[in-house]
Formats: sequence, C-alpha cells, structure tokens
Amino acid sequence: MNSTQNTHTHDVLIIGSGAAGLSLALRLADSLRVAVLAKGPLSESATRYAQGGISAVLDKQDSLEAHVLDTLQAGAGLCDVGAVRYTVEHAQEAIHWLIDQGVPFTRDTEPDAALPFHLTREGGHSHRRILHADDSTGRAIELTLEAQARRHPNLDLHEHCIAIDLVTTHKLGLLGGNRCVGAYALNRKLNHVETFGARFVVLATGGANKVYLYTTNPDIATGDGIAMAWRAGCRVANLEFIQFHPTCLYHPAAKSFLISEAVRGEGGRLLLPDGQPFMQRFDPRGELAPRDIVARAIDSEMKRLGVDCVYLDISHKPADFIKRHFPTIYQRCLEFGLDMTKQPLPVVPAAHYTSGGVVTDLRGHTDIGGLYAIGEVACTGLHGANRLASNSLLECVVFAFAAGQDILKMRDHLPPPPVIPAWDESRVTDSDEEIVVAHNWDELRRMMWDYVGIVRTNKRLQRAKRRVEMLKGEISDYYGNFRVTNDLIELRNLVLVAELIILSAMQRKESRGLHFTRDFPQTLPHAENTVLTPNAS
Ligand code: FAD
Ligand code: SIN
Repeated sequence: MNSTQNTHTHDVLIIGSGAAGLSLALRLADSLRVAVLAKGPLSESATRYAQGGISAVLDKQDSLEAHVLDTLQAGAGLCDVGAVRYTVEHAQEAIHWLIDQGVPFTRDTEPDAALPFHLTREGGHSHRRILHADDSTGRAIELTLEAQARRHPNLDLHEHCIAIDLVTTHKLGLLGGNRCVGAYALNRKLNHVETFGARFVVLATGGANKVYLYTTNPDIATGDGIAMAWRAGCRVANLEFIQFHPTCLYHPAAKSFLISEAVRGEGGRLLLPDGQPFMQRFDPRGELAPRDIVARAIDSEMKRLGVDCVYLDISHKPADFIKRHFPTIYQRCLEFGLDMTKQPLPVVPAAHYTSGGVVTDLRGHTDIGGLYAIGEVACTGLHGANRLASNSLLECVVFAFAAGQDILKMRDHLPPPPVIPAWDESRVTDSDEEIVVAHNWDELRRMMWDYVGIVRTNKRLQRAKRRVEMLKGEISDYYGNFRVTNDLIELRNLVLVAELIILSAMQRKESRGLHFTRDFPQTLPHAENTVLTPNAS
C-alpha cells in the first residue's frame, strides 16, 4: 500500500464489511493487498442482526432439487434458474468454510440426531434446512469473520469511513472502455475526504431498506452501493421487489426488532386481537406461506379491522423449549415487558430486504470493468420477485467466493489504478441549514411507506414520483453547495434509490411476488425483469 494521509492504493477495495464483504476479504487476503471500508464499526451491518439462519441442503431427506424448487416458487417465476442452481449447489462449500472460520452453529443435542447441527424451518422451505446459531445467526457469523479479519496482516480495515462515489476512467476523462479504479470516502472521525485507488473495486454495501419509515434494518442500510453504481453507469434491476418481513415487534421503544420467522417455523401462530387465527384464510400453508403472502395477509387484516398490530403466539410450547431456541428474542421481549412463554407478541410488517439491486453475473461482475457487486446490493437473479428466507446470507458467501475466484484469475490482467485527483471542496462551504437534511430524511421515508409500501396503486406511485422529484432537486442543490456529511451522503443515495424503486414499480403492469398493485392484481403469463439503465431516456 502506498499511503499518504489522504490517498491509499490497494489491489482490491471492498466497500462493506458484512457477510459478503468480509467473506471476500478473507478469501483474497493471503494473495492480495485488500482495503475494507465500513461506514461505522466493522461489525455494524444487516448481517449482524440476522436471526433465523442460513439455508443449505445438509439432511439426507432433503435434496438440492427441493431447495431449487422452493427458491423458484418463492421467486414467483422471476428467478434466474442458473443463479438459483449455482447458489444451491455451492451452499455446502460455503457452510463448511464458515464452520472452518469458527462460526458456532447450534448443534443438535437429541440422542438420535442424524446430523451434528440442528436445522430449523422457515416459510417457503419444504424441508428443515436452516442452519443457525440459536436465534442470532448473523451475530455469530459477523463476529467470527470480524475476528479473523482483524488478525490478518494483509487487510487494511477503514472503519467509520463512508464511500461517497466511485471513480471511473470515464469520469477521469481517460479514453478506452470504462473501468472502476477507486472511490472517494469521507473519514467520519477526521472529517475529511480520502481517495482510495484499486485495480478491483467491490460493492458489498447491503440493502436500501432505510428508505422506508418502518424497517427491520440497521441505520447503515441506505442503498449507497446501488446509488453509487447507478451514478457510475451500471444497470439496476427488480428494485420494486422490496420484501416486508411479516413480524417486526410492535412496541414504541423497540426501534426495529425482528421476531424471527423461525418462531413460526417452530409452531408460532398469527392471531387477530380477539385471539382468532387467520392465515389459513389466505393460504393453505398458513403461517409458513412465503413472506409476501403472510405480510400482505397481516396488512389486509390490520386495515380491515383498523388495528395497529396482530399477534404472534408460541406460548403453547414449553417455556424451556422457547428459551432454548430463541434466547435473544426471549430476553429482548422481556426488556419490553413481554414474556413470550406466557403471552402473544404484538407484531407488524416492516421493510426487510432489497431483492433487486445492481445487475451482476455469476462472478459478481457489474456493467463496468473492474467493478463487482456482491450480497444484498446485487441482483444476481437468485431471488426473483421474492427472496426465500435464509437464502440471503447464503448468497453473500457463495458470491463472495465466486467474485474472489474471478479476481484471483484476473489479478495480472488489470493495470494499477491511475492517479486520482484529490476531492475538490473549493466551491462548497459548511452547511448553515442542517434542518433541511433532517426534514427531507423524514419526509422521504414516510412518503415511501405511505405510497410505495406493501399494497400499491397507480395513483399512489404517481404521487410518490412527484414528491421524490421535488426532494431530489432540493437535495441535489444542497449537495452542490455544502460540504459533505454522513447524513447528506446517505440522503442523496436514499432519494435516488427511492426514485429507482418508484420507476421500477411503475413499469410493472401486473402483481407478482413482493409487488402488489390494486390496479393490476393479475400476474401476467410471461415474467420479465424490470431493468433500468442510466441515461437511457
Ligand atoms: P450488510 O451485512 O448489510 O453489510 C453492509 C456493509 O456495507 C456494512 O459494513 C456497511 O457499513 C457497509 N457500507 C454500506 N454503505 C457504505 C458506504 N457508503 N461506505 C462504506 N461502507 C458502507 N438473511 C438470511 O439469510 N437469514 C436470516 O436469518 C436473516 N435475518 C435477518 C434479520 C434482520 C433483522 C435483517 C435486517 C436481515 C436479515 N437477513 C437474513 C438478511 C441478511 O442479513 C442480509 O441480506 C445480509 O446480511 C446482507 O449482507 P451484506 O454483506 O450484503 O450487507
Ligand atoms: C428471520 O429470522 O425471520 C429472517 C430470515 C431472513 O430474512 O432470511
């Protein structure tokens, strides 16, 4: 690495330190000099909050074909069959690698257990195939990978460092095919912009679910990777398919606490406020129908009855079973005065997963040379119109390996990055109106929740489009005049991703998977991806 205070050069720049970013970093670190950027502390990511687990065919009763079929069925006709097969077939390799790294998956302690590890069930899966670490699988994965990364001498970890934009050869005015050669990033601790040059740049920035007022996601999920890729010239696809998780705890003090689908997998039932079950009225699979169906059923019952939440009840199971399977959820609910061994939990749907993203192939390649995207930021085709539970962590690790293999193969074929000019702050000043940023954050997220949520209509989408155009104009003016801050960088990205979600939703003249519109309630016979291309109009 050549490093002055503000300039860094590496072989590979990985933006993001969740399951995708750290898996790739660890795969490459023995051979290449790698920098990893994280907006906050290294472990702050959606990965850290994942509960249910990671899917893989490990049981003899199960089969790769069944996992493929379940994924295709959840994806409502829009999955790329090649991506599904690739992911499912590489799942065992991914799991063994995680075990080798030291991830403490829960063991099956039953005397007649056929497998060393316990497998749980989630909606849409025809078999038990979810490997987990109690009910905090993501934490176990993230902290294990973090510990390995911190030990590795070839990894240069930059925490509290938020990437602002990608640097491409075209932006630098260089001739030839466009290639990504680095990124500008705000060092949040030192409050200055640094330059990262690299032969390979990887977006592993996670999803965009903070674009909604209510979400299960941590604050980092602001769609930065999608926005940066779009501005650099990459296509994005299927962004209308935002997954709403059916069961987020409904409590004024619980900011965004998820009640895992595994609670339903282990027998939890959804109830109306009067104690009546209702899921069978919507789907014969009841509580274990795919997520889009369960979330819409809850939304419809809440609207029909004018109630604030429904209830999730597992109190019919023995208390020690509940405490053993769901220690984190049990403890957290107790902190809010709710004892799930004795009473139903109030729950509501919340934005959970960005099924679409930056278009990639099976090696993580985007449309720009040298730029890869892996994990939730990417649209590989695996999830189609609706992600199957616990396929996401799997996708992170499988595609980190695929991109890693490709980078190692290409390492001698890409030249070192050119000199990148320093960030230009000559035309901006410090903001004197921070309130604009705070106000627009709130307005945008509420507008998306109200108009582009679980149930959509043409009218709501048109309203949303008008509002987002106005907000985008204001934010762009602000960005042009004032020094960048973390909130401004995120807001600029959120408003762009919101616009891309709205445009994608407007293009789809049918209801499919996670996209449901009252104006086109039918599913068309032929499934098409929604692909948006920068500067196409
Ligand atoms: P993340 O883990 O979100 O990591 C993103 C990283 O990018 C972070 O390090 C962040 O700091 C960094 N970053 C973002 N923008 C920038 C920027 N501009 N500059 C620098 N760094 C940046 N999936 C499952 O398969 N099973 C589950 O059980 C499960 N449970 C879930 C429970 C919850 C509560 C949530 C929120 C999600 C769950 N998911 C689950 C989904 C899954 O956790 C995520 O899809 C997955 O972890 C995404 O991993 P990632 O590496 O792509 O991104
Ligand atoms: C959960 O535990 O319910 C989340 C699983 C997922 O999002 O895949």
